Amino acid sequence: YEREDGKPFRQRLLVVANRLPVSAVRKGEDSWSLEISAGGLVSALLGVKEFEAKWIGWAGVNVPDEIGQEALTKALAEKRCIPVFLDEEIVHQYYNGYCNNILWPLFHYLGLPQEDRLATTRSFQSQFAAYQKANQMFADVVNEHYEEGDVVWCHDYHLMFLPQCLKNHNSKMKVGWFLHTPFPSSEIHKTLPSRSELLHAVLAADLVGFHTYDYARHFVSACTRILGLEGTPEGVEDQGKLTRVAAFPIGIDSARFIRALYLPQVQEHIKELQERFKGRKVMLGVDRLDMIKGIPQKILAFEKFLEENAYWRDKVVLLQIAVPTRTDVPEYQKLTSQVHEIVGRINGRFGSLTAVPIHHLDRSLDFHALCALYAITDIALVTSLRDGMNLVSYEFVACQDKKKGVLILSEFAGAAQSLGAGAILVNPWNITEVAAAIAKALNMPSAEREKRHRHNFHHVKTHTAQEWAEIFVSELNDTVVEAQLRTKQ
Ligand code: G6P
Repeated sequence: YEREDGKPFRQRLLVVANRLPVSAVRKGEDSWSLEISAGGLVSALLGVKEFEAKWIGWAGVNVPDEIGQEALTKALAEKRCIPVFLDEEIVHQYYNGYCNNILWPLFHYLGLPQEDRLATTRSFQSQFAAYQKANQMFADVVNEHYEEGDVVWCHDYHLMFLPQCLKNHNSKMKVGWFLHTPFPSSEIHKTLPSRSELLHAVLAADLVGFHTYDYARHFVSACTRILGLEGTPEGVEDQGKLTRVAAFPIGIDSARFIRALYLPQVQEHIKELQERFKGRKVMLGVDRLDMIKGIPQKILAFEKFLEENAYWRDKVVLLQIAVPTRTDVPEYQKLTSQVHEIVGRINGRFGSLTAVPIHHLDRSLDFHALCALYAITDIALVTSLRDGMNLVSYEFVACQDKKKGVLILSEFAGAAQSLGAGAILVNPWNITEVAAAIAKALNMPSAEREKRHRHNFHHVKTHTAQEWAEIFVSELNDTVVEAQLRTKQ
C-alpha cells in the first residue's frame, strides 16, 4: 500500500465516519463480499490520497457471531478499514432513530419528529442515550488503533459526541470534526432537547469544519446564543480555550471521472445510451431516495413543464436514479411509495405505447455506467430542498466537457455557492420556477452553455477532494501547534 505517485505519505490519518466506504454482504459463515457505499462523504473521501489513511466505521450489517466478526475484520483490513460492530438495537435507536429520524431532518430544516414519527422509533431520551453509547463505541475503537502523532478526523452528524469522548481519554489527541450536512440556523438547533450537550461535545475538537461559511456562522451563533460562549473570528472561546471553526468546501476526485470517460467500456456505454435516446434531450437526476433531495417536487416540476410545453413532450426524457437508503426508517418508506405513485401517474398521462417521459430506477449504478450517463446528459436536475454540498452536481460537471450541458441547481444546496455562477439556480419548492428553468435550459444558446460550463468545470477541476483534505488536516495541525504555544505563554 503506497501513494500512487510513489512519494511517502504525509501523515497517518484516522478517518472516523459512521459508514465505511465499503458495505459488507455476508456470503457464508466466514466469507464476505464488499461493495462501495453510496453517499457524498464516501465519494469525496475516496479521493484523498496524500495520507496514510485508515477508516473506522460501521460496515452496515449486524454481525452477532465471533466467526463472522473475525472474518469481516480481516476482509476489511485489506481495504484499510476497521469495523465498529453495532448490534441491532443500537442501530435501531442510534442510526435509524437519533441520527436519521431526528438530527438529519432537523439539520435540513424539516423540523423535529411529530408524535407519530417518534412513536415508531421509541422515546427521544432512549435514542439519545443510544447515540451517546454508539459514539463511545466508535471512540473505543479509535483509542485501540491510535498512535501518537495521528490525526483523528471525525465526520458528520452521527458522531457529534466523538470529539468529547476522544479528548476525555487523551487530551493530546489531534481531533478534527467535519459536518457534511448543513448546520441550521441557531433558531432551529435551539428546538433540539439535547442542543447544549451536542454543542459542548463538538467543541471538544481542536478544529470544526463545515462546507460553507453560512453553516460555520450558524454553528458559532448557536454556541454564543445557546451556550453563552464567546464567538471570535477564529471560532468559539470557552474559558480561554479556543475551538477553531471554519469553512472548507469539499470537492471530488475530478481526474477520476475525466479519465473514466476515455475507457473503452465507458465509450461503448455512451454510444449505447446515445442510440437508445436518439432524438430526445436527456434530463438526469441522481439522488439517494431521501426527502431532502426533493425528488417528488422535481418530478412535479417536470410534469408542469410537459403540461406547458406540448412541443417538447416526445422530445425529452427524465432519467431519475434514486438509490434506496435508510429503508428501515418509516419516512423513507413513505417517500418511496409517494415517488412511485407520482411517476406512474405522469407516465400514464404523457406516455405512449413506445415511450414514457420518466425512467425511474430504484437502484444505484456502477461507477462506469454513471460516468456514461453523466456524459450523455443534456440537463442535470439537482433540486435538493437542503443539501450540505451535493457532489452529484460536481460529478455531472466533470463529465460534461464535450457536451457542455446545463446544470439546474437548488439554491439550498451548498454547491450553489461554488457552482451558482454557471448553473441555473432555482428554488426547488417553486415548481413553476423549476419548470421555467427546464424550458430555459432546453432553449439555451450554445455560447451561453459553454460559458457557464467553463466556469463550473474550472471550479470542479481545481477544487478537489484531495485539496480539501490537505487544507483541513494542515489547518488542524497548525491549530494544535498554536494552542500549545498559547498555553506556554
Ligand atoms: C450523507 C451523509 C453521510 C452518509 C450518506 C449516506 O451523504 O452526510 O454521512 O453516509 O448520506 O447515508 P447512509 O445513511 O446510507 O450512510
